[in-house]
Amino acid sequence: MDQPIDAVTKRRTFAIISHPDAGKTTLTEKLLLFGGAIQAAGAVKARGDARRARSDWMKVEQERGISVASSVMTFDFADCVFNLLDTPGHEDFSEDTYRTLTAVDSAVMVIDAAKGIEERTRKLFEVCRLRDVPIVTFINKMDREARDPFDLIDEIEQTLALDVAPASWPIGMGRDFLGCYDLLHDRLALLHRKGRGELPDEGEICEGLSDAKLDALLPGHAVAALREQVEMARGLCPEFDLESYRAGHLTPVFFGSAINNFGVRELLQGVAEYAPSPRPQPAEPAPVDPLDDKVSGFVFKIQANMDPKHRDRIAFMRLASGHFQRGMKVRHVRTGKTLSLHNPVMFLAQDRELAEEAWAGDIIGIPNHGNLRIGDALTEGGDVRFTGIPSFAPELLQKVRAIDPLKAKHLGRALQQLAEEGAAAVFKPRIGADWIVGVVGPLQFEVMADRIRTEYDVPVVFEPTQLYTARWVAADDPLAMKRFIDATSAAMADDHDGCPVFLARNAWHLNKAEEEFPAVRFLKTKESAA
Ligand code: G4P
Repeated sequence: MDQPIDAVTKRRTFAIISHPDAGKTTLTEKLLLFGGAIQAAGAVKARGDARRARSDWMKVEQERGISVASSVMTFDFADCVFNLLDTPGHEDFSEDTYRTLTAVDSAVMVIDAAKGIEERTRKLFEVCRLRDVPIVTFINKMDREARDPFDLIDEIEQTLALDVAPASWPIGMGRDFLGCYDLLHDRLALLHRKGRGELPDEGEICEGLSDAKLDALLPGHAVAALREQVEMARGLCPEFDLESYRAGHLTPVFFGSAINNFGVRELLQGVAEYAPSPRPQPAEPAPVDPLDDKVSGFVFKIQANMDPKHRDRIAFMRLASGHFQRGMKVRHVRTGKTLSLHNPVMFLAQDRELAEEAWAGDIIGIPNHGNLRIGDALTEGGDVRFTGIPSFAPELLQKVRAIDPLKAKHLGRALQQLAEEGAAAVFKPRIGADWIVGVVGPLQFEVMADRIRTEYDVPVVFEPTQLYTARWVAADDPLAMKRFIDATSAAMADDHDGCPVFLARNAWHLNKAEEEFPAVRFLKTKESAA
């Protein structure tokens, strides 16, 4: 059996962040291929348009098994255990995506070499930055016409305010893409346009860039360009610095082509070598050390399970400490109840298996009937509250109403449960009978409507509102808070935990409230109640 220190230090729990189409699915597939978790490429899930077509996606959501199974993928490589957490990649965007990033120790940012930093990547990056999550960058699709590498590096530096250290350097691009030179290990890897399922060889170790091997293996103009560009890059970019990377200030950049399996091994090696193993988790009264012998963990995601009729859910818990063994008893801190974890699940590519044991950094799925919520702590030790698992202010707000008015109460219950699950934000205005649902991506409204209908048997309609945004409000001085609430009662609502929320009609409305009530804080995020 692993010693705790070995078990923890070899774990790499990470997520991939990217804009749709940059190649996340393809890369995931290839990571699993290198990790030996799948035999042939093509097994992850439908790609591209097929996956994103709405009807397909709804179907996938309805047959929840698939998305549950692919939420966490565990595989081994280079004596490390990798837990890859899926950030849903469909057009839509939900809080799940954000929250998944609270459960990882590092991230891989995939960029399309022709497109550079795109909007979704930037958003996800900002979430990583909130927690100083270290990021390794993979510039994908070098086998296509791409932008100049210097240009791409410059864009990452400028738009994300990150130092960039090239870890590999591309030799040509598009049809002339020949491979990469590994700058950290002095190795030349050449692209052989093999069948897509085959793994490329490990490349040639070189004695630096002046090694004559390069001249023997590459055409003259390519070697000359490589030498010149690397010299320039070394002059312009900082050297790779582990500490700076781990602090989230610097990103090593790998170039490659996921579809050709190229650059994937180097990327994985980079994550194995440099990415942090589980770190102490921010918590109160004190951060939880992964080597603490008492098991503890927090729920960061909840997913309704395969059979909607039974309302059973899987709560995804990230272990923060201890050696988890199946059947053990833990305390649910929020309710004080003891839970026996007899049938937790672990995820191996597409198969679910019973989790016999797990360590800090691992994710286990706990089937439950709605008693576990996002942010909840489970522990064998003393009371603990994990911090930094935020809810985000939704960007889109709509009114929801039951088509049958007699079902209003059922709707209230459904909304409460879905909000606890983290599927959307739900607000009850203090004046009026409507419920307001807030989401970050428009497709979520349809998913909500579908779930409320199928799981709770309440057909509903969503209707537009004149609302612009929601802000949780707080003030140190209760009187200032009361004055504010009295003056703005028409815009006040409560979320599912009973926390007060200000619903602004437009930017001007929000600004005005902020100006008039300087003692009140208008918060874009709320820590999940624990
Ligand atoms: P996503 O999950 O980030 O949305 O991207 P996905 O992997 O689905 O890739 C998007 C498209 O980019 C796919 O093409 C995929 O084949 C292609 N792609 C991924 N990596 C590379 C690469 O390294 N080079 C090239 N040239 N293309 C790449 P598609 O046409 O949408 O799907 P398909 O018909 O190829 O399956």
